[in-house]
Amino acid sequence: DGKKSIFSGMQATGTLQIGNYLGALKNWVQLEDEYECFYCVVDMHSITVRQDPAELRKKARALLTLYIAAGLNPDKNCIYYQSHVSAHAELSWILNCYTYMGELNRMTQFKDKAAKHSENINAGLYTYPVLMAADILLFQSDLVPVGSDQKQHLEITRDIAERFNGIYGDVFTIPEPYIGKTGARIMSLQEPTKKMSKSDENVNASIYLTDDPDTIIRKFKRAVTDSDNEIRYSREDKPGISNLIDIYGAATGKSVAEIEKEFNGIGYGDFKLAVGESVVSMLKPIQDRFDELSKDKAYIDGIIKQNAEKANYYANKTLRKVQKKVGF
Ligand code: ADP
Ligand code: NA
Repeated sequence: DGKKSIFSGMQATGTLQIGNYLGALKNWVQLEDEYECFYCVVDMHSITVRQDPAELRKKARALLTLYIAAGLNPDKNCIYYQSHVSAHAELSWILNCYTYMGELNRMTQFKDKAAKHSENINAGLYTYPVLMAADILLFQSDLVPVGSDQKQHLEITRDIAERFNGIYGDVFTIPEPYIGKTGARIMSLQEPTKKMSKSDENVNASIYLTDDPDTIIRKFKRAVTDSDNEIRYSREDKPGISNLIDIYGAATGKSVAEIEKEFNGIGYGDFKLAVGESVVSMLKPIQDRFDELSKDKAYIDGIIKQNAEKANYYANKTLRKVQKKVGF
């Protein structure tokens, strides 16, 4: 129909943390009526770094299950595995031939990742942005919800699409960034000037969506703050406390002013406990649903199969169009 389409995805490596939920997933849930949405478990991107196969398979399934547990309705959103739609790989190859080395050389994420995985700087890591361009362009996506660290990827996607369209006519929709309403940026509990990330090696830095209540409370108690004892919002002077205020605000719906007032004269220990408890409550329904869904193997298998068929249908339409253009 005439709905605009949205594409996004997450890596199957690592376990989702509350930043992924508050900054992405929670917002995605609100888009399903207005847009045609595709959410991918990007397992093909994951193997640019060595993975244990059994672990990758487990993590990918957990991610897909968490998408649903967090509220994405699998009948309204196409939730699927990248590796189940071979058009991703096929379009990626074609687009490789329309992407310049110079463009890829400028990608900052490659430089970061190459530095981090210096023992395995493979070609997949280098052409990762081309696969991401294929992901987005296959679904003729109008909008892509992106964090600030992904802006460069969307830009190269647009450049490749415009170049291709320039040669062959209007083949691809040129995607725009989708800026969510309140994109809470959650910071690390251990280094509050750095964003919380599922790939952080320090497990105390992140609250994972599957952490049990005791773990959540313990991590908040250990959260790095500052040496005065005032619950006041200031990203510059008090990044740790400000991050906790943001998290508490996101979990309870309270404003910064309300939170400052509520905790006026109260110590950091009690505040951290309140933040921890608010996150435990926020995650409880997601965790209950996750446990329930995880037990229902047939249901999840059915979702995976149905949505892969739907994704293949849309993706192959675009791929055939592209193949014709280039002379296949
Ligand atoms: P991670 O760093 O946890 O691996 P990704 O880079 O894979 O996360 O991002 C997945 C999605 O989650 C993106 O939409 C990104 O903008 C969002 N996201 C990741 N970390 C945070 C965070 N700390 N705060 C808000 N949003 C986040
Ligand atoms: Na990513």
